[in-house]
Amino acid sequence: MKVLKNIEQKKIATNSSLDKILGGGIEKGNITQIYGPPGSGKTNITLMLAVQVVKNGKKAIYIDTEGGISIDRIKQIAKDGFENVANNIIVFEPHSFQEQEDDLKTIGSFLNSKSDEIDLIVLDSAVALYRLNESKSPILNKELGKQMGLLSTFSRKYDLAVLITNQIYSAFDGESNGNIRPVGGDILRYWSKVIIELERSEPAGQRIANLRRHRSMPEGINTKFKITDSGIC
Ligand SMILES: Nc1ncnc2c1ncn2[C@@H]1O[C@H](COP(=O)(O)OP(=O)(O)OP(=O)(O)O)[C@@H](O)[C@H]1O
Ligand SMILES: [Mg+2]
Repeated sequence: MKVLKNIEQKKIATNSSLDKILGGGIEKGNITQIYGPPGSGKTNITLMLAVQVVKNGKKAIYIDTEGGISIDRIKQIAKDGFENVANNIIVFEPHSFQEQEDDLKTIGSFLNSKSDEIDLIVLDSAVALYRLNESKSPILNKELGKQMGLLSTFSRKYDLAVLITNQIYSAFDGESNGNIRPVGGDILRYWSKVIIELERSEPAGQRIANLRRHRSMPEGINTKFKITDSGIC
C-alpha cells in the first residue's frame, strides 16, 4: 500500500521524435508493443533504447528470437560507448517457442537477485517463434498469454520497461477486407498498455510511428522519423 503521491510513472527517453507521442519516453512498469512491416524500424528502436539504458548507467536484457541483433549496427549506434554497451546488454537467443518461455523463467530467477541493475527487457520479436508452429492451438495461445503475463509481472514487480516487437499480417477474412493486423491479436493487445504502429512512407527512408494505444496520450497521433547511422531521428 502507498499513497498516490508516491507513485511515479517513470519513463526512459528514446531521445527521438517518438518521445513526443509517448509523453516523454517508454514507460517503466508495463509492456510497450511496436508492430509494423519488415524493415519499418522495430529492431532499430529496440537497439537504440537498449543503448540508451546502458548510457543511463543500467543494464538491458535483450531476447533476440530471429537473429535480428547486429553487432555492426550496435557499434554504429553506441559509437565510443560500444565496449560499455556490449558489457551491459545480456542477450538470450531462443530457437523455439518453448525455449523462449524457458528463457523468461531464467530471467525471472535472475531478476530476483539482480533486479536493481536492469531497466529494460526487449523481446524482438514476441511472435516469430510462435508463428513457426503450424497449428495455432488454444494451448499455444495460452503459452503466449503466459509469457506476456510473466513479462508484465517483471515490469511491475521490478519497475522496468518491457519493449516487445510484433509482426503484421493481411487479414483476408471477408470482414477486414485485407486490413493489416498485428499477429497474436487480442492476446498481445490485452497485455500491451502502449502500442505503436510503424509504417514506411514516402520519400524513401521516411517512416511514420502511429500511437495506437496509450493511457495518457491521445490515440491516433503520429510522428515521422528516419533511420540514421546513429539510430533514429
Ligand atoms: N546505418 C543505417 N542508416 C540508415 N538506415 C539503416 C542503417 N542501418 C539499418 N538501416 C535500415 O534499417 C532498416 C531495417 O530496420 P529494422 O531492422 O529495425 O526493421 P524491422 O522493423 O525490425 O524489420 P523486421 O520485421 O524484418 O525485423 C532497413 O531499411 C535498413 O536499410
Ligand atoms: Mg527486426
